Amino acid sequence: MTMPMPQARGPLSAALLDALGTLDTASEDRTADLPALAERRIEEGTDVLRDNDLQLSLYCLYELYYGGLPGVPADAEWHPELIRLRRVLETAFETALRATVTLPDLPEPTAAAVSELLFALAAEDDGPSVSRFIGQKATLDQLREFLMLRSIYQLREADPHSWAIPRLPVGRAKAALVEIQADEYGGGRADQMHSHLFAVTMEGLGLDSTYGGYLDRAPALVLAANNTMSLFGLNRRLRGAVAGHLAAFEMTSSIPNSFYARGFRRHGFDGAVVHYFDEHVEADAVHEQIAARDLAGGLVEAEPELLPDVVFGACTVLALDALAGGEQLQAWKQGRSALYRPDRSSDPADGSPGTAAAALDAAALAEGVPA
Ligand SMILES: [Fe+2]
Ligand SMILES: [Fe+2]
Repeated sequence: MTMPMPQARGPLSAALLDALGTLDTASEDRTADLPALAERRIEEGTDVLRDNDLQLSLYCLYELYYGGLPGVPADAEWHPELIRLRRVLETAFETALRATVTLPDLPEPTAAAVSELLFALAAEDDGPSVSRFIGQKATLDQLREFLMLRSIYQLREADPHSWAIPRLPVGRAKAALVEIQADEYGGGRADQMHSHLFAVTMEGLGLDSTYGGYLDRAPALVLAANNTMSLFGLNRRLRGAVAGHLAAFEMTSSIPNSFYARGFRRHGFDGAVVHYFDEHVEADAVHEQIAARDLAGGLVEAEPELLPDVVFGACTVLALDALAGGEQLQAWKQGRSALYRPDRSSDPADGSPGTAAAALDAAALAEGVPA
């Protein structure tokens, strides 16, 4: 499942992709300057969550731990300079995430109190609702953009949280995580894997279902939401954050998926094309209970010191949903595409003219992407 090589978005990602692309030539290792270059970019005082160059660089480094990048040796995941670079970016990224999130008062470290807090946080969430817009108003081209942006995660759905399985103690939390992940991976049936169901939906709308096929279209905040999961999954000290993240993820899934299903049916899609959403309305109503009580709550009972990170992980889902969803909705409401394009910023302040449809068609024509 190697994704296509992405396009650089600035000096760091350009240098990183160049270094990765020449690692196997053995002529010259170009990774040595990368950590210092990243530090300089961060010291410029950039908004790390919205910095396309930094977020793409971190995404590419994380990809070495998943399906890899074309032409890059598999053992690049253990290259010391690349790990050093990853840690520079991760430190800045985690600092930015913690500065973005406001933690509520922490409850007693019991499963009941933790799940009650997580359900309350999800219920209070009044962020911008992409799902309502999809259900009621989105055009066909906006449905396609929605799928393209979601595809960065959904075509490898569940993988980032799976990193936590060996990092949890034997007991209730680990059993709960495996129970949820078993559903996400199709319960032993490849054609029921949620990543596969999402690919079917994409193909039903004429989109390319290659993993990472639309990475070049995803703005920084979408990459940041994906990088958050890898950050939590790949750092054992953050295993509490994985549990909280998955709990909030599942809690904010069932109802939105019913809106998504409605939006796609409004445009005449049904059956296998909408099955992904229907499946999540049911599955995640169950998953949210297991994730909140047994995974997040069970982990806090086993390791009470993880409570703040469990809550932090849950809050990052709500915060990044609000930021990325808000950016997406603002673009659509202004008649713009929500996709990233290298020739101009995806910043909402960018008032470039053009409809989502025109932008999508132009991008598709330019690069042969099915639209
Ligand atoms: Fe799923
Ligand atoms: Fe789920």
